[in-house]
Amino acid sequence: MRKVILGIAGFLTFAGLGSPANAVEVSVSCGAFGVDLQLCTAASQRWAAQTGNTVQIVSAPVNDSDRLPLYQQMLAAHSSDIDIYQIDVIWPGILGSHFIDLKPYSNGTEKDHFPAIVKNNTVNGQLLAMPWYTDAGVLYYRKDLLEKYGAAVPQTWDELTETATKIQEAERSAGNKQMWGFVWQGKADEGLTCDAFEWVFSHGGGSIVEPDGRISINNAKAAKAIDLAASWIGKISPTSTLNDAEEESRGIFQTGNAVFMRNWPYAWSLANSADSPVRDRVGVAILPQGGANGIHTAVLGGWQLAVSKYSKHPKEAAELVMYLTSSDGEKERAIKGSYNPTRPDLYKDPEVLSAVPFFGTLYETFANAEARPSGVTKDRYNQVSVAFLQAVHSVLSGQEAAAPALNNLETSINDIQGSSW
Ligand code: GLC
Repeated sequence: MRKVILGIAGFLTFAGLGSPANAVEVSVSCGAFGVDLQLCTAASQRWAAQTGNTVQIVSAPVNDSDRLPLYQQMLAAHSSDIDIYQIDVIWPGILGSHFIDLKPYSNGTEKDHFPAIVKNNTVNGQLLAMPWYTDAGVLYYRKDLLEKYGAAVPQTWDELTETATKIQEAERSAGNKQMWGFVWQGKADEGLTCDAFEWVFSHGGGSIVEPDGRISINNAKAAKAIDLAASWIGKISPTSTLNDAEEESRGIFQTGNAVFMRNWPYAWSLANSADSPVRDRVGVAILPQGGANGIHTAVLGGWQLAVSKYSKHPKEAAELVMYLTSSDGEKERAIKGSYNPTRPDLYKDPEVLSAVPFFGTLYETFANAEARPSGVTKDRYNQVSVAFLQAVHSVLSGQEAAAPALNNLETSINDIQGSSW
């Protein structure tokens, strides 16, 4: 088992002062984008200091395609090396059988979180993970550049394409040769599934597999959406987009080299940090809709905390989960890292709203974000997602047009489905 855990980025251990005789060590695997790991470490350390227990922080790979197999391997081996796993909103169906029911420890506090996320994390009546932060795709834009060129925040993807082209060209002519119109996540990873899901759904092209199990992705609206995205590559989006995940897009935007960026809310606090070149010049809006009859869509993301069935200290691990997901815990993360709370109450908190004003203006977007089809495809979600993102990636990289790619994708998803989901 040691061999497996060494694949994980690193360990840090923090002991509580004056540890009582019954003190234990709890290990937490946390951290995704931005200051996630830093905030998780600080809060876990505080819990250790308060309880006298020891906490070991295990930093995991940032991207889903690296993190999921590692977690699967550890859980399949019934490893007790990690007590608490930070899991993506799409993973309860894939990993849930390895987690304990948290209801005996939650004291009913799950009712203070968004019901849809609690439902997502509940399988056969068991609360397999506590919501920690939610996510939804949003559009970042340079307020100063839109103002300079008298442009409005785009309402449709065509408007975005037009405005991005215009400002990119004008800025380049003015000597800003590095400027790009629009950066987003085109790397063949779960991030691309999220971006492409938004293009497709916002064009009225459905959600790949519908809640009733029907495979819907092979349709003209979906093809139109993906062909449009392919047309951005090399024009308003750098060719490197094909290898860019969230942090790479943020790097380009934050250095001042992009007009628009699709990303998650975490990028807000970093874009406005003291040393950020774009500090105070960034606006955040709902993503554009696909054509006049389209739908403004944000895909639902977010992370949960779950306790392994193989933990030697499930009680203490569950206590730490409740501490981290408490109102104070989520509030700190919202203010310091712009991680969206999963507690609706915190969206009315003046300190949270002053740190992240769009938590107020885009509240409806966060409360109604559109879920990827992980609920219906259950433990086969990852296969469906990988088939989808590979098809989209081949269109983006110019290997084929979207219509034939989606036709083949339908066959692949049919095979994954077999006789039923
Ligand atoms: C964010 C989201 C998560 C999503 C991932 C894709 O971390 O919260 O749900 O799967 O990005 O890269």
